[in-house]
Amino acid sequence: MLVNMKEMLIKASKEGKAIPQFNINNLEWTKYILEACEEKKNPVILGVSEGAIKHIGGYITTVKMIEGLVEDLKITIPVVIHLDHGSSYESCVKAIDAGFTSVMVDLTKQPIETNIEVTKKAVEYAHKRNVSVEGEIGHIGLTTGEAIYTEVDDAVKYVEATGIDALAPAVGSLHGIYLTEPKISFERIRDIKNKTGVPLVLHGGSGIPEDTLHRAIYEGIAKLNINTALQVAWAKAVRIFLNENTDIYDPRKVIGAGEKAIKDLVNYYIDFLNRGRD
Ligand code: 13P
Repeated sequence: MLVNMKEMLIKASKEGKAIPQFNINNLEWTKYILEACEEKKNPVILGVSEGAIKHIGGYITTVKMIEGLVEDLKITIPVVIHLDHGSSYESCVKAIDAGFTSVMVDLTKQPIETNIEVTKKAVEYAHKRNVSVEGEIGHIGLTTGEAIYTEVDDAVKYVEATGIDALAPAVGSLHGIYLTEPKISFERIRDIKNKTGVPLVLHGGSGIPEDTLHRAIYEGIAKLNINTALQVAWAKAVRIFLNENTDIYDPRKVIGAGEKAIKDLVNYYIDFLNRGRD
């Protein structure tokens, strides 16, 4: 069942749990993630970056591919098709018109006024069509750079002015492979959560130690984004398979060599996230 993410995040937030966003890259990844989540009967947010959308073929292909898999595989869990880091109003509109059930607006490289203006416009377009919106304030960069921390007042101003359904603040996490252990500010998560009241999203979830993630969820994180960890696990399994099977050339076998690695990790995250704030 395709849904937006508003209700599931509110519910997760109340229960002190987090819903996973697993980013997809192609048909096989989507299939593996859907199958693993269905097996666990766990709702899932399929994150699709603009780069992944281009790779898959476009906004429409992405939606039709997911819709087809949901139908053919008889997926019964709630599934969100979410634009990850939408870089413009136009990109969000394209995604919504194609059938995405959720979008993220990321204008964090622009001045805060522009970020607010574009996010607000995207929210107006999205909400009329029952599509949820995640916004980012303060910039969550790459692990090759420095982590920054969103000012609480900026977060409040942004949420109040835009009407977003979920907020991705910069709280010390970064995208990619961490070179040093991330310094997540639990205090900042708690303050932003208390003052904005919206479910919070933690980007750059791959490689954050379990106890840190656990505490971050306790303080208000209701959605955890995972991309790099799946890519690394898949690539490692495929590399081993190719080295051990130098005569194999069937792409289904090559890509499929990473299926177990992806499913194992998806299962791990679902089990971990369902532990909640115990
Ligand atoms: P990682 O690639 O670090 O897991 O981050 C994923 C993410 O935040 C997608 O928006």
